[in-house]
Amino acid sequence: MNIAANPVVEADQTVYLKDYEKPSFAVDSINLDIQVYTDHTNVNATLVMKRQTAGDLVLLGRDLELKSITLNGKPLTANDYSLDAEQLMIANAPDEVILETEVIIHPESNTQLEGLYQAGSDLFVTQNEPEGFRKITFYPDRPDVLSVFTTRVEADKKFPVLLANGNLMEAGETGEGRHYTIWEDPTKKPAYLFACVVGDLAVLKDSYVTSEGRNVALEIYAVEKDIPKCHIAMEALKHSMRWDEEHYGRPYDLDNYMIVATSAFNMGAMENKGLNIFNTSCVLADEEFTTDAAIMRVQSVIAHEYFHNWTGNRITCRDWFQLCLKEGLTVFRDQSFSEDLQSAAVQRIDDVAVLKAHQFPEDSGPLSHPPRPDHFVEINNFYTATVYEKGAEINRMMSTLLGKEKFRQGTDEYFRRHDGQAVTVEDWVAALTAGSGVDLSAFLIWYNQPGTPKLEAQGEYNAAAQTYTLSFKQSLKAHAKYPNLKAVPIPVALALFNAETGEQYALNSSALFENGVKDGVYLFDQDTATIEFTGVTAKPVVSLLRNFSAPVNLEFNYSDEELAFLVQYETNGFNQWQATQTLLERILLNGHDAEVYIQAIKNTIPDLVEKDPLLASRLFDVPSEGYLGSRIDADYKPVEIQEKRNALLNTLARELGEFCKATYLALDPDLQKEFSQAMGVRALKNIMLTMLARQGDSEAFDLAHVQYLNTGNMSERLGALKVLVWNDAPQAKDTLADFYNRFKDEALSLDQWFMLQAAHPKATVESIQYLISHPDYDLGTPNRIRSVSGGLNANPVNTWGFAVQHYIDLAKYLDEKNPILGSRLLQVLSRWYTLAEPQRSDVKTALEALKSQVKSKNVAETLNSMLSV
Ligand code: TRP
Ligand code: ZN
Repeated sequence: MNIAANPVVEADQTVYLKDYEKPSFAVDSINLDIQVYTDHTNVNATLVMKRQTAGDLVLLGRDLELKSITLNGKPLTANDYSLDAEQLMIANAPDEVILETEVIIHPESNTQLEGLYQAGSDLFVTQNEPEGFRKITFYPDRPDVLSVFTTRVEADKKFPVLLANGNLMEAGETGEGRHYTIWEDPTKKPAYLFACVVGDLAVLKDSYVTSEGRNVALEIYAVEKDIPKCHIAMEALKHSMRWDEEHYGRPYDLDNYMIVATSAFNMGAMENKGLNIFNTSCVLADEEFTTDAAIMRVQSVIAHEYFHNWTGNRITCRDWFQLCLKEGLTVFRDQSFSEDLQSAAVQRIDDVAVLKAHQFPEDSGPLSHPPRPDHFVEINNFYTATVYEKGAEINRMMSTLLGKEKFRQGTDEYFRRHDGQAVTVEDWVAALTAGSGVDLSAFLIWYNQPGTPKLEAQGEYNAAAQTYTLSFKQSLKAHAKYPNLKAVPIPVALALFNAETGEQYALNSSALFENGVKDGVYLFDQDTATIEFTGVTAKPVVSLLRNFSAPVNLEFNYSDEELAFLVQYETNGFNQWQATQTLLERILLNGHDAEVYIQAIKNTIPDLVEKDPLLASRLFDVPSEGYLGSRIDADYKPVEIQEKRNALLNTLARELGEFCKATYLALDPDLQKEFSQAMGVRALKNIMLTMLARQGDSEAFDLAHVQYLNTGNMSERLGALKVLVWNDAPQAKDTLADFYNRFKDEALSLDQWFMLQAAHPKATVESIQYLISHPDYDLGTPNRIRSVSGGLNANPVNTWGFAVQHYIDLAKYLDEKNPILGSRLLQVLSRWYTLAEPQRSDVKTALEALKSQVKSKNVAETLNSMLSV
């Protein structure tokens, strides 16, 4: 063990993909009996096991108090096994084993939100992905051990709700004010999908008939007052069930589907078989209490967890290195679902914005890893933007290349081959290949190497020959832990426009294209390549990576005028938006003139307001300070970026002021019939209002105040409040107080109240300290912590030193209490090394000081990686 070289994480804690071995025993069935008491919980388990390979019988267990253990009916003594903090090992076990254990656990004092834990005074829930089940009972807690679960849950009758996975077989009383239920889950599953819930909750019920005629009881459990906020989620659930039948041929397989809402949750939601557990923020949706963006997110997370039933549960991962097998595919599926719910262009814009704001920076810094890493210390640290979002992009690329029909043939083959199995990324790509008849094996390179490829392209028009030549080159930054980087297959969706008429050249015409270009997608899979288009009668403007057909950094030598042309004439909404972003980035980072962008906006928006108001609103997006910072690799000076960004916003407000006012006054979301259109109008109105206020229009604050008061819609109310508060309007204080009084009992709305103030562009140390010492600030609720830390992160300047210390203090505080969250919050600082001095050294010193103060693998691994640049 080389402790000196690696002071925090001991070298031997690293797990390697290459060391994968099959489990020595399979578990045919497990019978669980969970008895919840106020000061402890008893867990009795019976495992029926069969030997598969030679080796010891290994059961993982953590923080379990072992009361008794018998093997094939014979009690074992401490000499019969070896037990340490992580596992119980039995050498020379027979080939057939019935193992019975009794353990005591303490959910009432479990603050880590992993395993079985108390989530408020009236609720106990589980979170077992990835390795929480070992905190409930001794078990081969790994995803390639699949078993049939029978669960008995027993608790005091003050907890009327007793749930577990599968079908309810029996319910009754045990005397002494206690009762129980027994559940059988017929489908084999890995332990990370086990769930149980004990609590006092109300329920919203509905039902759904599958394409196979199965009648499924649908239930969403939440506290009584939140039940009215569960209807949108219920509709989204039924919609998801239909969508998966229609698009992937996948009907649901049990007679019930339950969702339980809790605010004590580290992530968004969890796909436990037939018994999803959700963060309240991802299930409660109501125009009065949550924003339009939150409502969209609820629908996509409902779909995500539902889609896991086939991509994750029926077919699961062989080991945790394969996490992106289920997550990347399921995110791709939920993104596709959401494209049907709103402007498809905007859905894509928002998904790519997340990718560029989180995954690209992650992949260019010390936490960079392949979508399928080949080693880790703590798997919880790998629930990352790379695994989820880049993983989704890989699937999208293959789907783009294959087209709808062949992609479906590929997924059909995957389900046919692997239903009921625990598989790898290779299995997925092989099934897609076999089903579609198209060799996709080169896409495995994407899964196995880190970094965002740079795609350089150049175009040349030959007027005499009427040809247009495009040459491509790809490259990848070297990575110490992953040498031997290879060229990846990059589907480049493209279009050529006639620069004089604005019309698109007919892409499918064989007269225009050489081999290799099909349906507007060119597969570039070499280090360099050149393609030629013929019959190009006038100088073209090329649009590349339409709909963001590959997760790469494109460099193309556009003129500003060509980009303005694309804003106006490109028919792919995503690329319209991309052109505005490139223009704005040039203005901000390279000092280009803002006029070209302003003119393009004036030419484009009026038509778009009717057609797609949400897209119109997105064309006003100005890249955030955080995103701009992530584009700078050294000597980053946040203050300078903030000043430039403010100057641009001022220019835009000045030049577009009148336009904004007219647009604001003309728009009325209440005239829209569809939610998606109304949402677009609200988004556009809020941006117009923001611009008006920045311009110093005296009327703007009054308009905002009226908007705040005269609405029952959270997006309108919050948008107006933000304008008042961020501009320190005379009405700001009272309106903030009014918001607090209206929503003080609505946790999700109150999160917004915290977030908005934490993200105030002129926040001060005092104003942040006020928030974190507020009686409603709560270090036990991840949502509340994030409402302040997320707000702070949006504004990297004024409270700089304080914010850094805030993240470090949180990581230290959470290190033992909730290491999953502590580690994630610390990752916000991962690009510290790009800062200009003296900030760079300040953060480094603070991070180094933290090293000796943390114990968890989670925080230690993150800290170690962050300091290894
Ligand atoms: N599998 C969950 C999802 O993506 C992720 C998840 C929920 C999770 N809770 C977690 C991961 C806790 C790690 C720890 O749908
Ligand atoms: Zn998921």
